[in-house]
Amino acid sequence: MKVGPDNIKKIVVLTGAGISAESGISTFRDSGGLWEQYRIEDVATPEAYQRDPHLVWKFYSMRRIQASKALPNRAHEELVKFAASGKAEVYLITQNVDVLHQRADERELLQPICMHGSLNQSRCLNCGTIYFDDYAYFDLKGDYAPQETSLCSPGQKASMDYLHQYKLEYKDFLPQSPCCRSPIRPHIVWFGEIPLHMTKIDNLLASTDLFVSIGTSGQVYPAAGFLQLSKVAGAKTVCINKESIPQSQWIDEFIEGNATEKVAEFFSRF
Ligand code: OAD
Repeated sequence: MKVGPDNIKKIVVLTGAGISAESGISTFRDSGGLWEQYRIEDVATPEAYQRDPHLVWKFYSMRRIQASKALPNRAHEELVKFAASGKAEVYLITQNVDVLHQRADERELLQPICMHGSLNQSRCLNCGTIYFDDYAYFDLKGDYAPQETSLCSPGQKASMDYLHQYKLEYKDFLPQSPCCRSPIRPHIVWFGEIPLHMTKIDNLLASTDLFVSIGTSGQVYPAAGFLQLSKVAGAKTVCINKESIPQSQWIDEFIEGNATEKVAEFFSRF
């Protein structure tokens, strides 16, 4: 079935790593993806951080460096353009932590709901205060070499929420939080942790006219359940992806191809 623009006032978009693939950022599960190169249990769980915070910070420093070298692509830009057109109310949920949606959107029209956190934030392990922090503490070889990246906007860097506005104390090479003098960790949802903003997301899924999934493999819940939840609540559903995904029974229209081409094509129907 071809999904048209009739009776669509509200649209919820979910994005995954596939939307950033053409910006040069590795996906997780494609061949050569991140989870082929690293073991989840070594770098992306609370236990990994407890065991070896330096290894975890090496991994996230590498991801901060790579993400800051990448640029938003046409798919990120088309979503902002469509939101700016005012043709529908658009809400963006992203599983991506790469900050490319935000960097494509200087006017902050489409403030993404970052359900897996964001690479440009860290938080205090003790009290949970979230700071903007785009430092890579280690270089790509894994050597200690703190460097600022461009993942925070000039406004964020100038704000009191920017970690490096403070005179920081370092312990074992890593900064202590200014609030509690406790270790900081990446503000990223790790395996075994609950994604962020779920109440807001549930409300959006229950009330949208159209749900569009872009560049996600449908392997990681709860995001993998959003097609079903929105469909059951009465929305039309579209999936734009390079390959089929397991949730096909909940998809009204599957559009196969690259996000840079297909996102523009789909939204031009409105
Ligand atoms: P995956 O790597 O699992 O899936 C990416 C999907 O994008 C695949 O189905 C690809 O076929 C598709 N794809 C690749 N290039 C594309 C392109 N140019 N255009 C369109 N589609 C393309 O990534 P996610 O589904 O985002 O979680 O992974 C979900 C979560 O698993 C991530 O947020 C991360 C990961 O573990 C955490 O770290 C908590």
